[in-house]
Amino acid sequence: MSYNGLIDKYKKFLPVTKKTPIITLLEGNTPLIPAVHLPEKLGFNGEIYFKFEGMNPTGSFKDRGMTMAVSKAVEEGSKAVICASTGNTSASAAAYSARAGIKCVVLIPEGKIALGKLSQALIHGAAVLEIDGNFDEALNLVKELSSNYPLSLVNSINPFRIEGQKTAAYEICETLKQSPDYQFMPVGNAGNITAYWKGYRECNDNNPEFFKLPKMMGFQAEGAAPIVLGKPVENPETFATAIRIGNPASWKTAVEARDESKGAIDIVSDDEIREAYQMTAALEGVFCEPASAASIAGLIKYVRNGYFKNKKPIKAVCILTGNGLKDPDNAVKNAAAPKKVKANMTDIVAAIGL
Ligand code: F0G
Repeated sequence: MSYNGLIDKYKKFLPVTKKTPIITLLEGNTPLIPAVHLPEKLGFNGEIYFKFEGMNPTGSFKDRGMTMAVSKAVEEGSKAVICASTGNTSASAAAYSARAGIKCVVLIPEGKIALGKLSQALIHGAAVLEIDGNFDEALNLVKELSSNYPLSLVNSINPFRIEGQKTAAYEICETLKQSPDYQFMPVGNAGNITAYWKGYRECNDNNPEFFKLPKMMGFQAEGAAPIVLGKPVENPETFATAIRIGNPASWKTAVEARDESKGAIDIVSDDEIREAYQMTAALEGVFCEPASAASIAGLIKYVRNGYFKNKKPIKAVCILTGNGLKDPDNAVKNAAAPKKVKANMTDIVAAIGL
């Protein structure tokens, strides 16, 4: 049977009816790629999988939530959507609005979003407003705008976003034919950890024998770690701009996911994120964006601090939330520069070191 997008596949588990106009770009159904070199390199006793959400139509997991949020907005008669974004939400909202034939307004922090994401919002025809403030300020503004003007808010405080995003947990359970033991993921505004936990709990409710509850392991960047610190961060900073967030909207539900699953929400430094970002690309051939690499950085940190010592072999899934091509500047900055070589055989052979 052909794949018609995640609303079609999971409609039984989603708040849609026959009347819901389905706005889809065939999102979801992303690969769960087994790591082949990382377990040995790290001395990890178990299997590591990458849920490569960068394979979604706009290159991030946001498409799962956006197909739901925009479909429901259109069902409700909305002619325009609005969001605040560190980049990926704006790219996804712009694409799904274009598809639906409605307007899209995005507020982004000036100078702090990756080039690929900005190019997407622009080319899809969204009204892109760069504010001289950060994501948290942008989110406060769009909340106020959407309560006073005919604009549907499509940030993850919109419950339909969480519903769409929970389907990634269903896919992982289906592919593995069991739940993972641990899930490692980045945490920014904290909608995604909320959504995965909802998804895993539903899989467990529907089929408790097969689908146990994994431990949710969330990671914030050191300079943007409000949940770990227990208080908002006024001026969040990290090179992983997607998770440069100081006051997450879904803070409470992220803490519930952590506590109910007996997992953890912890810090990784920018250097640890950078190491994981480079290692995954060079060692596994999988290119994710910096924020996504926070999941692998978290796994590496926990392997190194002995967390898995004396535990039985486990299955760990790292959520790679966005495609590496979103952020070409960081890729170029964090890899060796190309060698300049004269266009002749001798110099080229010498440069290759043959
Ligand atoms: N990874 C990437 C690539 C993201 O773009 C985001 C969030 C996250 C992780 C964190 O997910 O917010 O659900 O905890 N990006 C949002 C945006 C904030 O505007 O694109 P979260």
